[in-house]
Amino acid sequence: MLTILVINSKGGSGKTTLTTNLASYYASKKIRTAIMDYDPQGSSIQWLRVRPDDAEKIHGANAAPVKGAVPLRSLHAWVPADTEVMIIDAPAGAKGLLLQELVRKSNFIVIPVAPSPIDIHATADFIKELFLFGGARTSKAKIAVVANRVRSSSSSIYVLLERFLNSLKLPFLTSIRDSDNYLHAVEKGLGVFEMDEAATVAERRELMPILKWLNGHFPNKFGSRIEDKTQSLEGSRKFAAFRMGTQNITTLSATGRFKNYP
Ligand SMILES: Nc1ncnc2c1ncn2[C@@H]1O[C@H](COP(=O)(O)OP(=O)(O)O)[C@@H](O)[C@H]1O
Ligand SMILES: [Mg+2]
Repeated sequence: MLTILVINSKGGSGKTTLTTNLASYYASKKIRTAIMDYDPQGSSIQWLRVRPDDAEKIHGANAAPVKGAVPLRSLHAWVPADTEVMIIDAPAGAKGLLLQELVRKSNFIVIPVAPSPIDIHATADFIKELFLFGGARTSKAKIAVVANRVRSSSSSIYVLLERFLNSLKLPFLTSIRDSDNYLHAVEKGLGVFEMDEAATVAERRELMPILKWLNGHFPNKFGSRIEDKTQSLEGSRKFAAFRMGTQNITTLSATGRFKNYP
């Protein structure tokens, strides 16, 4: 079983949106898929509840801590033994032992980031936590970041994140736009890959780099192996706009946040 952790310490960054869309993609490809929802808000489990009966089955596991029984997990935090892909929807603010547990379980870690300076600073701090205390430094999990809820006015904000990720050699896979289709998908218990193709061309295209990055590490399972052609933002033309007007911006790495990080 391969486990993909979708995590960011910030609420509202798009963890559940990414979790449900990745899960629906794999399920629609007839891959036995499970979601493990660690968030007490249970948004992924709620999404599964409204999922149509004729959609491909996705197993839902509720791993949110039970009130009054911390640190015991719910008995529902079980996934079938034949699960091929498990996607973990992390709660906001995961740190300490919980963060270590999540990282330990994972083969891939995807970090969605919303385009606000506050979110970007919080994400930089979270990545630091992930490496210094979450076990990511010794874990074999592959880590990547995606921009979420991007509007045309958002681009220059990511310059900060771009430089920070570059300094850590973490790939920035794609920008997911702010789109009503993600809201329609949630309402229907579907992912954009299960909706009308013509109406979701842009969403499918922007999620593809994440799937390619993941598939590149799934030899034999999804047909031919796709090489990981991920480029860092710095080297990527598609993010050229993000670099406009950057001269006066102090990078996160230059602020000393990660001064001692190799
Ligand atoms: N790309 C997007 N376009 C439009 N709405 C989005 C997008 N990503 C997330 N949302 C909406 O923003 C809110 C927060 O997203 P969510 O995935 O629940 O974040 P998290 O799980 O990190 O708290 C939700 O209402 C969700 O439907
Ligand atoms: Mg959520």
